[in-house]
Amino acid sequence: MKQLDPAAKSISIRETLLIVDDEAAIRRLLHQKLSGEGYQCEEANTAEQVLNTLETSPIALVILDIKMPGKSGIELLPEIKSGYPDTAVIMATAVDEVNVAVQCLKQGADDYICKPFDLNKVSLSVQKALEKRHLQLELREYQGFLEDKVEEQTIGMRKLFLGAIEALVSALEAKDKYTGGHSRRVTEIALAIGNELGLSTQDMEELRWGSLLHDVGKIAVDQVIQNKPGKLTREEYEHIMTHAHVGANIVGPVVNGKITEMVEHHHDHYDGSGLHQVTAGDDILLEARILAVADAFDAMISDRPYRAAMSVAEATDEIKRCAGTQFDPVIVTAFLNTLEIVSK
Ligand SMILES: [Fe+2]
Repeated sequence: MKQLDPAAKSISIRETLLIVDDEAAIRRLLHQKLSGEGYQCEEANTAEQVLNTLETSPIALVILDIKMPGKSGIELLPEIKSGYPDTAVIMATAVDEVNVAVQCLKQGADDYICKPFDLNKVSLSVQKALEKRHLQLELREYQGFLEDKVEEQTIGMRKLFLGAIEALVSALEAKDKYTGGHSRRVTEIALAIGNELGLSTQDMEELRWGSLLHDVGKIAVDQVIQNKPGKLTREEYEHIMTHAHVGANIVGPVVNGKITEMVEHHHDHYDGSGLHQVTAGDDILLEARILAVADAFDAMISDRPYRAAMSVAEATDEIKRCAGTQFDPVIVTAFLNTLEIVSK
């Protein structure tokens, strides 16, 4: 996190100024006056020299002559302002060029000073322009500090909320003898598949959260229907399956679109034959296809109110049998590889 620099609160008297004029006598005059006031001064007499100096030195302020041979101060001003927006610019002009100087103010110059110079006015103009620059820099730094702070708190709140939802899922599962620990086991299986497929760290993190939270929508499912020992009616099945959509609505406000999509589509069938399904095949989010296999496998090897747990071999055969219909065959292969890794 960015910290405010306490030293930035006081203006350094050794700030570097760049005096730009094609007349050496004028540069010398300003140099003497301003260095006598504690500023570090550099000089330039062409636009090219100005840009080279800005490129290599931290210039706080440029005193820029409007009339110069070659590229004039008027032409140079927008280049300085776009390339070095933190550098203040004071235009130096003849009295009869005041209208031009005012135009320069509209283009971002901080002030103008008239020739022949009143050196005290020059000094005052430099001081004011540097104070304004200093305030702008301090304001920007403070805005950055606030933005960092807000981002930090947003991340903290999101973590807290996700942790709370995860605890809710665990509590939901803990009170049900059939689903205790389901989401944690599904997460382990899903991550093993993701690892086998070489997912990125970011994708794995999203897969982890999507897997942990995938059944949070079961909070809205009637427990009597969920624990019904016999075969479900069509209506009962449809009621249970609403948990995917409900879950997506619960987590949607605090997780990204991908995790929400995982939760919403974890019961989608690869061939598109799932309940109220609109996408199929590779159009289903990869992580949702992974979750579908992990979820189904853990459900098969667990007792359910209407059947006893299958053996790992039976469940694996069933997953293989459904490759290409309910499940993505690529995911099934990756899943089988993870089983081989575990059994080695
Ligand atoms: Fe589910």
